[in-house]
Amino acid sequence: MKQQPIGIFDSGVGGTSIWKAINKLLPNENTIYLADSINAPYGPKGEEVITKLSIKNTEYLLSQGCKLIVVACNTATTNAIKYLRANYKIPFIGIEPAIKPAALRTKTNAVGILATKGTLSSALFSKTSDEFASHVKVIEQVGEGLVELIEEGALNSNQMKVLLESYLKPMIKADIDYLVLGCTHYPYLMPILSKMLPKTVNIIDSGEAVARQTKAVLLQNNLINTATVGVTSQFYTNGNPEVLRGLLNGEPYVKFLDF
Ligand code: SIN
Repeated sequence: MKQQPIGIFDSGVGGTSIWKAINKLLPNENTIYLADSINAPYGPKGEEVITKLSIKNTEYLLSQGCKLIVVACNTATTNAIKYLRANYKIPFIGIEPAIKPAALRTKTNAVGILATKGTLSSALFSKTSDEFASHVKVIEQVGEGLVELIEEGALNSNQMKVLLESYLKPMIKADIDYLVLGCTHYPYLMPILSKMLPKTVNIIDSGEAVARQTKAVLLQNNLINTATVGVTSQFYTNGNPEVLRGLLNGEPYVKFLDF
């Protein structure tokens, strides 16, 4: 069982930001990454559709013998993880926007959150925000169009810059000192965001925290892989393999799969 892979799925290529953090912390683990790019973005879809897509991805990863699944998508976590945990026996790790650390650390009492409509309108996000951030001003912004551009490989396009400028403007005006990236696609925007934001703004993404949580759950369940030879990472996409390969620095095991 310990040598069975960790399954990781996302609505597309963005969850590779999470895969990178997991692979860094747990280099002995076999992994299978699933990019459901044909159905990206999940953000504007309703809970029922997001849950159905999450079940489809889970079933494929289970058919490959995965011992644990990381839902490397904020939108799928906030909408479907409750269902997945209730209906499957293996452990699931989810990703919630890091609103709690931002709210605890802010000195200006204003934090920004950039996420999808599906995440910001979810009950799980409202609960976390009410519980941990009711004492600060939270500027919520739907990152409409960003996932589509990242899926197209248009990270540095003019369209991206125009969209980001309009999304960041109200946050800068409100004097935020923390920006929470509430979508696993967005860490790929870090270089552009750091150029656009004042130096006083800290950007938080969830990659390292998710990797630590994955390790903790593997340890709790006695599932850590101790074998050091023959470790494999496989990446499957039902979209364009070139975009996925590009974000993985030319990784050779990227394949098209009609799942
Ligand atoms: C999306 O598919 O809309 C974004 C994925 C995410 O929320 O992480």
